[in-house]
Amino acid sequence: MAAAKAHSKGLYVGVDKHRWWKEAVVYQVYPASFLDTNGDGWGDVPGITKKLGYLKDLGVDVIWVSPIYKSPQADMGYDIADYEDIDPSYGTLADVDNLIKECKKRDMKLVMDLVVNHTSEEHTWFLDSRSSKDSAHRDWYIWKPAKYDAVGNRQPPNNWAQILGEANSAWTWDEKTQEYYLSLFTPEQPDLNWENPAVREAVHEVLRFWLDRGAAGFRMDVINLISKVQSYPDAEVIVQDHKYQPGDKFYANGPRLHEYLQDINQKVLSKYDTLTVGEMPFVRDENEIMRVVSAESNELNMIFAFDLVDIDNVPGDFKYTLHKWDARDLTRIISRLQRLMLERDGWNSIFVENHDQPRSVSRYTDDSPKYRTYGAKLLALMQTTLAGTLYVYQGEELGMRNVPPSWPISEYKDIESQNFWKKYNDLYAGDEAKLALARQVLQKKSRDNARTPVQWSREAFAGFTSREATPWMRVNDDYESCNAEEQLKNSNPTPGTLSVHAFWKRALAQRKRNKDVFVYGDFELLDQENRTVAAWRRWSATEAFVTVLNFSGEEVVWDGLGDVKVKKWVAGNCDESGIEEKRRSGGIVLRAWEGLLGVCE
Ligand code: GLC
Ligand code: CA
Repeated sequence: MAAAKAHSKGLYVGVDKHRWWKEAVVYQVYPASFLDTNGDGWGDVPGITKKLGYLKDLGVDVIWVSPIYKSPQADMGYDIADYEDIDPSYGTLADVDNLIKECKKRDMKLVMDLVVNHTSEEHTWFLDSRSSKDSAHRDWYIWKPAKYDAVGNRQPPNNWAQILGEANSAWTWDEKTQEYYLSLFTPEQPDLNWENPAVREAVHEVLRFWLDRGAAGFRMDVINLISKVQSYPDAEVIVQDHKYQPGDKFYANGPRLHEYLQDINQKVLSKYDTLTVGEMPFVRDENEIMRVVSAESNELNMIFAFDLVDIDNVPGDFKYTLHKWDARDLTRIISRLQRLMLERDGWNSIFVENHDQPRSVSRYTDDSPKYRTYGAKLLALMQTTLAGTLYVYQGEELGMRNVPPSWPISEYKDIESQNFWKKYNDLYAGDEAKLALARQVLQKKSRDNARTPVQWSREAFAGFTSREATPWMRVNDDYESCNAEEQLKNSNPTPGTLSVHAFWKRALAQRKRNKDVFVYGDFELLDQENRTVAAWRRWSATEAFVTVLNFSGEEVVWDGLGDVKVKKWVAGNCDESGIEEKRRSGGIVLRAWEGLLGVCE
């Protein structure tokens, strides 16, 4: 009873606001790299079905699968040619029906990736659109006449840069009809014209198609880019050396975004029981975020905010840059979003990895053989003790790391990496220092890092595909020491500790057991200005926990608990043979990358 009293003050999400999608653990599958069952070197839908038992055992409730629709794969399926069919490299619609059925059997759900800011240039809508200026679908995309400079050279309608190829214009010239079309990501991904009501209705149909088939919701790809400022103004010049500039001010959270999202909600989503998460790059404004995710907004359940994964970008610059950060940056970001959602009744998503980001163990911690497992578990402890819907990316539960620095550029398959490398070679040909920097940036930041095949075992190609096959992407060299089979045996290289997988499994179970605290409880940062230790308290009306994370490779003595009294340390990433608080004058001793979870008195 004493405990009940001590924690009785706080902001908790009331029981009437409990939702399955708030408590869910979502696991993202990047299908090409998950598991190949037919020996063609590509992961496939039957491969996902085959691993449902593994995922259920880990503690996963929902699977979000990156695009498996028919696609020429210019951007790995984020360029869709048919929303209502499956790409043969992944399987068939019948395979997906079976996957949904098998999910249901295990009380799991499937969430689809909805990519509707743009289509593939091979979608029939676009083929018709580009066929002539007066085709039925001309107005389904964004066409503009050329501009001409002082000496009469043809120029795109404005100076916006392509997102996946920042040296290039976001506009693509069409020879046949002599106009430019907007293609924010790559020329193969023309942007849909959402101003046209027929486009909006067609998108609604796509949602219904998948919900009626049994999908439980959508991850909505760059959904905040669907409304553009209709005058298409030039962007301010902020990156010197570049002809084209970031134009996000004019296309991220544009004038009609909320109208479009409410329309989707009212006409489609409100008729089903769904999980919806909108990918929303470039947004920082709290009111803008709340308009989408607050409980009364009737737009989406939650968004992916980029603050945490942008922590090592030079502010204001393109993302392939390197920037130093410390624990204060991390806790500032975490605390802001945690408090925002509690105070204004919204909902967070918690993630540090996906198919567009490098591996978290390499990015935020130390992926050397000595520290990799500690780093991976530190991040598991961090994420499982924060409020929001939790997203785990394939291989994150194994502590998979970035590709080795020794890999040649030819192993980087992503269009964004290729464009970045080409840009450096064009801009700085022969400048060895600049090219070395570009290589370093790719190894640290490229999306390829997350896209290497999942390491299932010590077999050939880590068990991702058959021995005779050629995997579409090279398997990380470290698969013999980092793979699921080993970790399931829980024979970890470091005696006395759990494997990364076993640690995740236990942390997910603990989160569920104490969901009043970890999912719905209040949040308070401890020792805000510490440069190496991130720490917070979470509590419900009856219980409280404290998380302490040493984000450094040094031993530190920490005394940031303040008034908080720890009754018992219940989990830690270092010493599992009875976690005891090690004290020295001045505070608790935390080893390099050590993380602790304690129950408060
Ligand atoms: C999102 C996807 C990314 C893709 C882009 C364009 O950011 O996650 O992989 O390249 O949208 O669809
Ligand atoms: Ca296959």
